[in-house]
Amino acid sequence: MMQTRVFDKTQLLIAAEAIQRGDLIAFPTETVYGLGANAFDEKAVAKVFRVKGRPSDNPLIVHVANAEQAESLFQNTPKGFHALVERFFPGPLSIIGWKNDVVPSAVTAGLPRVAVRMPHHRLALAFIRLCGVPLVAPSANRSGKVSPTSASEVIEELGGRIAGVIEGGRCSIGIESTVLDLTSRQPTILRPGCVTAGEIEGVLGVSVRIGRGETDRPASPGMKYTHYAPAAQVVLFFGPQERVQRQMIELADEHQQRGKRVGLLAPRAMKLRIADAFHSLQAGSAIDYAREMYRGLRALDHEAVDVIFCPAIAEEGLGIAVMNRLKKAASAIVDVRKR
Ligand code: TXA
Ligand code: MG
Repeated sequence: MMQTRVFDKTQLLIAAEAIQRGDLIAFPTETVYGLGANAFDEKAVAKVFRVKGRPSDNPLIVHVANAEQAESLFQNTPKGFHALVERFFPGPLSIIGWKNDVVPSAVTAGLPRVAVRMPHHRLALAFIRLCGVPLVAPSANRSGKVSPTSASEVIEELGGRIAGVIEGGRCSIGIESTVLDLTSRQPTILRPGCVTAGEIEGVLGVSVRIGRGETDRPASPGMKYTHYAPAAQVVLFFGPQERVQRQMIELADEHQQRGKRVGLLAPRAMKLRIADAFHSLQAGSAIDYAREMYRGLRALDHEAVDVIFCPAIAEEGLGIAVMNRLKKAASAIVDVRKR
């Protein structure tokens, strides 16, 4: 075990020196906290996989401080790249193009393509600039666990196993970036996020495919792994609010009779007295869900609940990304739409 140092915004240079020595430093972004390592240092990259317990066939996103640094990693600039950069960099969009030889194959898990992203976060950009190299940065959690959206959650996940974390407050978006592949014939979203297919189509002027993960080629290898799972079992409810609430009350009662504790992750208007613990998704917009979801799953785990009930939201816009994560976290679905 090592001592994991917490750096504040005046100590970025010390943190950058640690990166240059080959250490791992977690840092904030607008989506979730990333586990940073020098993308050109194969030993440091190997350490990222080891510390996370990440399967070696799951590639890492390379984080850059500007568009030129992103371009320097590609064999040739993907079609549409400049227009996307103009509109979405810095921001929650990772773009995949053909990689060149400066990118070690450990970074891309042997794939000929690399994902790059420029985070929309002042500390992240300043930090990458000080490091002087692009940084690989998977979400700073143990593989298969919920992504951290604060420095203390990073410590919870990786404390004692990494050299440090930069304190940057809570992430403003709260779920991971959109991953867009520009190497396929048609631009393809491999992981939905805050930047939607419609927004990308608006910029590229061509239709964008939504990849279905492992069944599609080229797939985002990460899609085949279980993800985002808290310790408690998540039950996702589909249906109109009133019917969902009635069903939640009934099921909560059943669980509690068997001595189980029930957590509720829901908009504040859906708070139920019967729940043993509650985390508010505020007004329940897709933005609220994204920002509060991971934090709420962790908070409810801390309340030692056995099961977490959560109502689904409409799969449109950012709701697509939210539901993508919730479905992966869920171990059961209750559908009261057509009863
Ligand atoms: O918002 C984010 O993207 C966060 C923050 C820290 O920037 N990072 C993040 O990284 O979510 P990670 O490693 O947890 O998820 C990266 C996803 C995985 O599903 C991976 O399979 C996919 O992106 N990916 C990365 N490089 C790829 C590539 N070359 N081809 C296909 N998929 C790739
Ligand atoms: Mg992740």
